[in-house]
Amino acid sequence: MKEGQNDSAGILVIGSSNTDMVVKSNRIPLPGETILGGNFFMNPGDKGANQAVAAARLGGKVTFIARVGSDIFGEQAIAHFKQEGIDTFGVIVDPHHASGVALITVDEFGENCIVVASGANGFLLPEDILQHKNKIAEAGIILLQLEISIETVNEVVAIARTNQKKVILNPAPACSLPKEIFTDLFLLTPNRLEAEMLTGIKIESLSDCENAAQIFKAKGVCNSIITLGENGAYVNSKTFAGHIPSIKVQVADTTAAGDVFTAAVAVALAEDQSMETAVRFATKAAAISVSRQGAQASAPYRKEMGGDER
Ligand code: RIB
Repeated sequence: MKEGQNDSAGILVIGSSNTDMVVKSNRIPLPGETILGGNFFMNPGDKGANQAVAAARLGGKVTFIARVGSDIFGEQAIAHFKQEGIDTFGVIVDPHHASGVALITVDEFGENCIVVASGANGFLLPEDILQHKNKIAEAGIILLQLEISIETVNEVVAIARTNQKKVILNPAPACSLPKEIFTDLFLLTPNRLEAEMLTGIKIESLSDCENAAQIFKAKGVCNSIITLGENGAYVNSKTFAGHIPSIKVQVADTTAAGDVFTAAVAVALAEDQSMETAVRFATKAAAISVSRQGAQASAPYRKEMGGDER
């Protein structure tokens, strides 16, 4: 499908769901070190669920396919997705594996360090995707990340290819990818480290971003956006190429900023906006997210986005 086409059929997010256990601390501890932190809070997280909730809050019609445990965290997650207006028909309750959990430390600059116990997320299998292949066929845009198995990601991409669907891959956390995947991606949204890992280019300047984007293009990716945190984003698309600066805010917590950004791009593209407008919209959503604490807790609602950017 082409950029600019209206994908009012909605956004299908396939991915992971965690409960985030967060401790605020002056700094991230060194290996072997114990430090006394500040406040503790729990909130729903993980890249897939963060994208699903952010897209729903921004006005997307969202369906989520995921796997959670048959425990209190899984129950709470499903209830929360429903409250956010997400279609949870594809959220499987796994009787054998615990729900995913992430242990997060956030330092005084809002930077984080995360360890994930994937639990049921690791058992979202290609068979589960095959059972829901009609959801892929019905979707306007499909959003993927990498906290589920690569075999499952491959299965989604293969079904999307058959149905000529747009796939957006947020390649986080960083890992190497089979080269066949790239040719079926409408959009890739790596951060700087992920882009370095996928291209082998050390990214220190916008011209490095441009070189990395050319490598993504040579691999067959239609469009790429390299997110650069406080330095904004570098876009290489069929209709726009260049740098879009970030919006400066007081940073409270950067957790899930990339998830909110990718979800916002998907929402704007699903509403037939241009790539440049979509990235400006996403930049604003990410700025709101980093100014607040938590993952899904920080995702903005559409009414907070103002009207002029769209
Ligand atoms: O992208 C942020 C997410 O990464 C957190 O919500 C945490 O669950 C980890 O998966």
